[in-house]
Amino acid sequence: MAGELRAWIRERPAGAKLPSTRILAGEYQVGPVTVQSALQLLVADGLVETRPGVGTFIAATRQARPVDVSWQTTALGWSDVFDVEGSGVRTHAPDVIGLHTGYPSPSLLPGALLRSAVQKVSRDPEILMSAAPASGLPQLRAWFARDLDGQRTGGSGIDESDVIVTSGGQSALSASLRALAAPGEAIIVESPTYWGAMAAAKAHGLRMIPIARTKDGIDPADLDAALAAHGSRVFYAQPTYANPTGDVWSPHVRAEVMQVLAARKAFLVEDDWARDLYYDAEPLPPIAAADENGHVVYIRSLTKSLSPAIRVAGLVARGPALRRIRSSRWVSELFVPPFTQQVAVDVLAHPGWNRHRAALRRELRTRRDELRAQLTRAVPEVEVTQVPRGGLSLWVRLPRGHHAAEVAERALTLGLAISPGSEWFPTEPYDQFIRMSFAATPHTRYVEAANILAEVLR
Ligand SMILES: Cc1ncc(COP(=O)(O)O)c(C=O)c1O
Repeated sequence: MAGELRAWIRERPAGAKLPSTRILAGEYQVGPVTVQSALQLLVADGLVETRPGVGTFIAATRQARPVDVSWQTTALGWSDVFDVEGSGVRTHAPDVIGLHTGYPSPSLLPGALLRSAVQKVSRDPEILMSAAPASGLPQLRAWFARDLDGQRTGGSGIDESDVIVTSGGQSALSASLRALAAPGEAIIVESPTYWGAMAAAKAHGLRMIPIARTKDGIDPADLDAALAAHGSRVFYAQPTYANPTGDVWSPHVRAEVMQVLAARKAFLVEDDWARDLYYDAEPLPPIAAADENGHVVYIRSLTKSLSPAIRVAGLVARGPALRRIRSSRWVSELFVPPFTQQVAVDVLAHPGWNRHRAALRRELRTRRDELRAQLTRAVPEVEVTQVPRGGLSLWVRLPRGHHAAEVAERALTLGLAISPGSEWFPTEPYDQFIRMSFAATPHTRYVEAANILAEVLR
């Protein structure tokens, strides 16, 4: 629809008014949400501008000569870059029910704590107008060190010198993969796994070797065989509330993976993105808590529990790996803005932080239960693969004969955004699953969401 509107616009003068949403919906036989999504694309391209209460008009700037970038195709040459922009980072019209993204709605975040920290920090000239140390503010590094050290079951203690602060977990895992493996080398990943980790691996020219998930997490023998067969030294994994499946590795898998890493002289990049996002019992300690000799590169993100607008994570590693990762992170962003780091320090030190985490857990549990209940009511033919004990989503198997990408596309035209499972597999794009995240949308809209999915599958 956006394509046809573009053609329509090309033939009309700047300032001309577009037909109303109602007329466009009738002409194209689509819902008003689809019309709004198409118009938003045109607004983003600068082709039209909306004047609230008046209508949508062809923008004056579209008269400019179109940019001719055809030369870039030759100049850039062949590319194997993973060019999927994960559905979780897409934006949709405000009335679309957003079950696609893992970024939490404001009602899940510590708004009052953040506001008061921002006010306090904005009065500090030192923080407002100075650079930060490349590895991060000492108080924030110390918080991440204490957080892991408090769960240690083996090895010497962790202190702030073992920590690097990064702009969220994504930056930490990109820097780690770049530092630990050379382009062309293989890394081992769980299948399915987080699309952003796969994108980072691809962008660095790494080959991804998948190992299957099992009911206990993974089979350590599979890991051992994959490391040996591919000469790999790096395993990226999420042992606790994996995104997208919700899996948790059992205690014996955790212990055996440590043994495999030691025997194969390999690294685990442990992505602990959801440590604060459990619903009932506290999660098992991270694998890094038992690491004695620097096999685990531990990434603890606060983006989902503190705020996506603050985006800080701590990376803990030991030895030359830590030094290499520090350089790898530094070359892309020098340092994380001290303002956001200091806001994080203040919120984490506030007694309200633990109250916030408890409230967050209660709300997430309600959302998980309500989304499951609505799926059972409206779409009993789909299978919620497990009842997760933490994280932000349900991993749902579609009935035979349905393809996730098509289901996601059709759902969007009816006003529901979900993530097609095909984005989450490193090799075969298994098209049978969808991820439905309850992070961004409160449970009051799940009845409608489940009804839309039912309509799509009918
Ligand atoms: C499993 C996993 N790891 C890492 C990240 C990136 O974390 P951040 O938003 O802190 O960069 C995400 C974000 O959704 C994620 O789901």
